[in-house]
Amino acid sequence: MKLFSKIALMLAAVVTLSACERPPIVTVQTGYRGTGMEQVYNPRTLAKEAALNQAPAPAPEASPDGPKASLVYQNVQVLGDLSVGQFVRHMTSITEWVAPKEGCAYCHNVQNFAEDSKYTKIVARRMIQMTQKVNQDWKTHVADTGVTCYTCHRGNNIPQQVWMAPKDRKYVNSLLGDLAGQNIATKAAGLSSLPFDPFTPYLKDALPIRVNGNEAMAGVSSNANRASLKQTEWTYSLMMHMSDSLGVNCTYCHNTRAFQSWEESRPQRVTSWYGIRMAREINNDYIVPLTDQFPASRLGPKGDVAKVNCSTCHQGAFKPLYGAQMAKHYPELQTVSKP
Ligand code: HEC
Ligand code: HEC
Ligand code: HEC
Ligand code: HEC
Repeated sequence: MKLFSKIALMLAAVVTLSACERPPIVTVQTGYRGTGMEQVYNPRTLAKEAALNQAPAPAPEASPDGPKASLVYQNVQVLGDLSVGQFVRHMTSITEWVAPKEGCAYCHNVQNFAEDSKYTKIVARRMIQMTQKVNQDWKTHVADTGVTCYTCHRGNNIPQQVWMAPKDRKYVNSLLGDLAGQNIATKAAGLSSLPFDPFTPYLKDALPIRVNGNEAMAGVSSNANRASLKQTEWTYSLMMHMSDSLGVNCTYCHNTRAFQSWEESRPQRVTSWYGIRMAREINNDYIVPLTDQFPASRLGPKGDVAKVNCSTCHQGAFKPLYGAQMAKHYPELQTVSKP
């Protein structure tokens, strides 16, 4: 073989191999044989992620005896039914989950704990109610695993994975015209050219996600599918986000011969359907109404608050914290407190 073609071959090998991951790679079947429903995992990546997804040990239980917090303190609006011991345990835990560096002073004027002078305390009170609501009414998604502040915050003031409406991006003086919300590689769309904000239409607004029809020939039959290719790209962008957030492929939920068919999908697709509705409720009923509380420095380019998507809780895992049963140690977060 001539030297030149040898070098060419070697270069080709380098290019091919660098696009692959080093074996061993593990394949797990998720559907019937022959349907191609399987997940491909790299055990080394999994091991690394497992370390990042450890739930902290729950705080030692506190006695339910003694006077209630509502009797002892002045301004307890949500957790008044706890004993003083349980209330202090709760405060210690949320400090560890949300503000471990700053401590109690992150939410309190420590000269007067009853005061609501810091916005963080007002936000935290609403977040307690939000967490209770998720655990009580979204069991269709979170099951008995449930969530705590730690599921999203993981020791950070603001969860690491949130979304805000991106600033408008347009080509200026260009024949290329309108970007149409796409063609810029962002993490949201899995670094593809797909629309880069799938969250506003689907996780805040409730635009239709389904694009498949039962009949071809749009415009001919009155039942025909009217969804455009453009619409489909928005759906795909959301799907890229969902796959990426959970660290899975499309076949974790779909049989790709018929993306729309629920009969051929895995139960995880149903769980996800509820997850989409749950994320919308969290954003619209709890987080967006807090907008006026936040200082301007916390708001996005369009003045909106940081909101929740699938990765806020999941952070790359098929279940947040790999399904660690952490929430059950905090019964006060399991049901919505009576006013
Ligand atoms: C992430 C925010 C946050 C942190 C951090 C925090 N708290 Fe609180 N704290 C609250 C909220 C919210 C309330 C009101 C709860 C309610 O309305 O049910 C509260 C209420 C209290 C009260 C009742 C005061 C009264 O008289 O009404 C005390 C006491 C208290 N916290 C102590 C602490 C202590 C001690 C720490 C640190 C170990 C701490 N908190 C850390 C958010 C926080
Ligand atoms: C489903 C995810 C989720 C859960 C669960 C959650 N939070 Fe949050 N939290 C958020 C998001 C998103 C923001 C960011 C809002 C923003 O900055 O615009 C936030 C912001 C906050 C802030 C304001 C921080 C700052 O510096 O601006 C506090 C305080 C807070 N959360 C406390 C809590 C407490 C306490 C709990 C548990 C009772 C909790 N959160 C549970 C998603 C969550
Ligand atoms: C974690 C589960 C999950 C994963 C992973 C997932 N999907 Fe979906 N997909 C859904 C759910 C749920 C719906 C229906 C959403 C709704 O109706 O609200 C859906 C809907 C769709 C639709 C529209 C079907 C119709 O009825 O018109 C298409 C197309 C689709 N997904 C493609 C994909 C592609 C491509 C991938 C991989 C990049 C993917 N999905 C990954 C859960 C998933
Ligand atoms: C508030 C936190 C939270 C958010 C936001 C969230 N999830 Fe989940 N999700 C959970 C919890 C907790 C579980 C574990 C439930 C269990 O143990 O069965 C879970 C489980 C799942 C499962 C089941 C996994 C399996 O193999 O059984 C799927 C699929 C899933 N979520 C998809 C999504 C999608 C898609 C989104 C975004 C649209 C989303 N989740 C948003 C908390 C969340």
